[in-house]
Amino acid sequence: MTIKELVAKNRSYRCFHQEVIIEYEILRELIDLGRLSASAANMQPLRYILSCDSKKNALIFQHLAWAMYLKDWSGPAEGERPSAYIIILEDTQISHPLRCDHGIAAQSILLGATEKGLGGCIIGAIKKRELRDALKIPARYEILLVLALGKPKEKVVLETVGPDGDIKYWRDSKGIHHVPKRSLDDIIIGSS
Ligand SMILES: Cc1cc2nc3c(=O)[nH]c(=O)nc-3n(C[C@H](O)[C@H](O)[C@H](O)COP(=O)(O)O)c2cc1C
Repeated sequence: MTIKELVAKNRSYRCFHQEVIIEYEILRELIDLGRLSASAANMQPLRYILSCDSKKNALIFQHLAWAMYLKDWSGPAEGERPSAYIIILEDTQISHPLRCDHGIAAQSILLGATEKGLGGCIIGAIKKRELRDALKIPARYEILLVLALGKPKEKVVLETVGPDGDIKYWRDSKGIHHVPKRSLDDIIIGSS
């Protein structure tokens, strides 16, 4: 796969074959991609919590919110939930004002997952206090993102944003998830 093909295949997936197990070692390999990614001032403040255990997965799941634009869908049903999670944390004792390391690490991890035939979704809508309590995460670590991972069960297709400018993703009657992306000409606002 070319980088473009990999990036295009790396969509946000929210329905999974929950019975497909993701081994702990696979999660470690994915986190290694985060470890190798860029970091502001090379401070490397990110820390990770892994979960591929069904009990821990269930605990994490209840503190996440899914697909805000799909008003009549409250998230994946039992049997279609993620097989694993990676929680991205920041060690507040070594944080840096230019905080975007977690986005870069998340993308590296998800590209790695895509390469392995897996998929996932970045979740920022997290009940952070509740998740911290549930997993007994020390105050020193700030919860930044949760990556939900699994073997995708849904089809996601990219569209071009129409003249009405609507960027909301939507699902059709066959359950296919459509994601509008702005055109290249719309996002390049200056050229030489
Ligand atoms: C920082 C960030 C936070 C996100 N948080 C959520 C979330 O809380 N819940 C969710 O279902 N999707 C979340 N997403 C996924 C976006 O909805 C998704 O990227 C967007 O719809 C475009 O789809 P695509 O990833 O397939 O291009 C998040 C994405 C990013 C980058």
